[in-house]
Parts: sequence; structure tokens; C-alpha cells
Amino acid sequence: MLLLTGGAGFIGANFVLDWFKSNDEPIVNVDKLTYAGNLGTLRSLQGDARHIFSRTDICDAAAVQALFEQHKPRAVVHFAAESHVDRSIHGPGAFVQTNVVGTFTMLEAARQYWQGLPDDERRAFRFLHVSTDEVYGSLEPADPPFSETTPYQPNSPYSASKAGSDHLARAYFHTYGLPVLTTNCSNNYGPYQFPEKLIPLTIANALAGKPLPIYGDGSNVRDWLYVGDHCAAIREVLARGKPGEVYNVGGWNEQSNLDVVHLLCDLLQARRPKAQGSYRDQITFVTDRPGHDRRYAIDARKIERELGWRPAQTFQTGFAATVDWYLANQEWVADVMSGDYLKWVETNYQER
Ligand code: NAD
Ligand code: DAU
Repeated sequence: MLLLTGGAGFIGANFVLDWFKSNDEPIVNVDKLTYAGNLGTLRSLQGDARHIFSRTDICDAAAVQALFEQHKPRAVVHFAAESHVDRSIHGPGAFVQTNVVGTFTMLEAARQYWQGLPDDERRAFRFLHVSTDEVYGSLEPADPPFSETTPYQPNSPYSASKAGSDHLARAYFHTYGLPVLTTNCSNNYGPYQFPEKLIPLTIANALAGKPLPIYGDGSNVRDWLYVGDHCAAIREVLARGKPGEVYNVGGWNEQSNLDVVHLLCDLLQARRPKAQGSYRDQITFVTDRPGHDRRYAIDARKIERELGWRPAQTFQTGFAATVDWYLANQEWVADVMSGDYLKWVETNYQER
């Protein structure tokens, strides 16, 4: 049994769906269902006894402890977080609460449970903490990519709260010996991503004839990784990673935001041509994100050397698959683009 947090969100849900394609080990999926959690993504698992869903806040220590006692997991895969940088600028409190206090609560409940396990189960237990490349700060154009030893320099409330959670995870290994593994991954894209993030927002707005907002001059660089490749990396680290170690996960795929949006426009144009002009005409440059990090890039040689993981998708294949998925799943997008999402669009874009 795996105890997984945040499995109704973008990456967690992809992980759950992928897991059951090749594995019958059950998962207890612990998610508070914030605006970012969507059980509709997991509809195909309805009635599947391998998937147990618990609507629980990871900051609720008693509830989390009870889940450990009830399900006796052999491992934790901890995805749950507030994940959107822009939201962290508008409201940092929720980020400190879930990302720092929530991770602390998970580590503490895991420690108490793990200490009571018989020797062989205690040795086999794992706590995999899913984190981000943003904890390393921002790179200049000529800097080498982030490695596992790059010093932490988080710049946003989001990345600072994730950095705090990484430090707690590290401390629980060093102080208590809890078998913690940490992954720091670059920007993910793919099916079921909430349309507040650049890729699904661009696809949704393009199809709706709305502006495609580019922050600043569009030259900020991200290292894009297909979500299925991230999930494969997590499975490898869970199976064969060394407790106490950190593994950087990335796509070897640095692109400027403008290049990303151009590619998405061109892929859409080829599949669903506009009657007049091109989707590129909808691009609109807007006021930059405060403190916007210039460049992220991941050196993913360690995970390749030690665990044999490399991304399977390229920029071209992964983006084409993603555009096809969004075109085929307009209903999923329409479902999530209601309520809180609409309020968010008002807050984030009206002053830009
Ligand atoms: P997401 O925002 O799509 O999903 C987060 C999930 O966590 C949601 O289902 C939400 O309901 C749940 N959640 C939030 N607060 C909770 C709480 N207090 N208790 C229980 N559940 C709660 O995020 P994502 O993009 O899937 O990211 C998942 C993890 O991967 C995060 O830890 C994030 O920092 C990390 N990460 C994301 C990316 C990326 O590009 N998206 C890249 C690297 C690392
Ligand atoms: O690097 C990993 C991180 O990637 C994860 O830890 C975060 O959870 C995830 O949200 C993502 O953070 P970013 O801030 O890089 O992702 P986002 O999709 O918000 O933005 C990607 C880039 O596009 C960034 O440089 C800001 C820019 N952008 C974003 C939006 C939403 C725009 O130009 N316009 C927009 O409307």
C-alpha cells in the first residue's frame, strides 16, 4: 500500500493513473480537494478497489496519523502542495501552511508510524518528497544547470515554502533516520494540468479566441518535462533510490516562453486552423511577474547514472501529444474552468 498525497492534482493524478497501468498495489490517495484538486481526473478508477480516496487536509495531524494506522503503508509519495507561483504572490499564507506545516505534519506522522514498525518493514519504508527546481533560484544565460549540490536561493513565496519543506525532509533523515528521498523537478506539462499554468492556459485561451498573456518580453527560460516522464522518474526513485539522497529530474529541454507559445500556436494551427490569421496573432505582452526568475535548467545526470532514468518524450513529441489531449478533452477543461478559476483570472490579469 502506498500513501500518496495530492493525488487529485495534476502530477499526482497522472502518477496514480500510470501506476495502475502496470501495478496492482493499492494507493490511499489523500487530498484536501482545493481548487487544484479534481476527482473528475480519476473518474476511470471509480469502483476500483485498488484506489482508496480520503478527503483530508495534510495539516490535520490526527487525521493523517489515523490514515497511517488504518492503511499501514510501505511508502509515502508526497505531492500535495500549493503549486502556483502567481497565487503565492497574491496570497502566501496558504503556501506556508500546506507546503511547510503540511509537510512537517506528514513527516512527523510518518516518523511515529515508522518507528513502531518491525525491523524489516522499517528498513524497507520510504518517504518520497516531491519538490521543484525553483528552490535553486534563477540562472544567468551562461550558468551551468542546477545540480543536486547547487545552493538554495528561492525567490518566490512558493519556492521559499518548498525550500522549507525540503529542509524539513532532509532533517528528518539526518536526525531520525527516516528513509527520505527527495526529487527536485523542472516544469511539467501534459494531460490534466490546471489551466492557470502557461501551457494549458495558452491552449484554452487560443481556442477561445482570447489573448495569450506573455509576462515581460517572453524570454524567460524553463526546462520542460512531460508529466509521464516525471512519474516514471518518481517510480524509479521510489524503487531504487538511496535514502537521504536528492535526485534532480529534468527534460534537457530549455525553451523560452515565447518559443513555447509559438510552438503551441503552430500545433493548434495545423490541427484546428483559424478561419482568419493565426493563433500567434492572439499573443499579448503583459506586465511581468514580480521577481520573475529568468531561467531554470536541470542537470539530470545523477538520476540517469544511478537509476538509468531519462525522459522518453522530446519537446516536439510531448507538446504534440499534449495539444492532442486538450483538443480531445475539452469537456475536462470546461469543467475545471468554472468558479474559483474565473475569480482567479480576474485577480491575476486585470491589473496587467
Ligand atoms: P497541483 O496544484 O496541480 O495539485 C496539488 C494537489 O494538492 C491538489 O489536488 C490539491 O487539492 C492538493 N492539496 C493542496 N493543499 C492540500 C492540503 N493542505 N492537504 C491535502 N491536499 C492538498 O500541483 P502539481 O502541479 O500536481 O504539483 C504536485 C507537486 O509537484 C507539488 O509538490 C509541486 O511543488 C511539485 N512540482 C510541480 C511541478 C510542476 O511543473 N507542476 C514541477 C516540479 C515539482
Ligand atoms: O519549475 C517547476 C515549477 O514549474 C513548479 O514547481 C511549479 O509548481 C509550476 O507551477 C511551474 O512554475 P512556473 O512559474 O515556471 O510555471 P507557470 O506555468 O506559472 O509559468 C511558466 C512560465 O510562463 C513562467 O516564466 C511565467 C510565464 N507565464 C505564465 C503564465 C501563467 C506567462 O508568460 N504568462 C502566463 O499567463
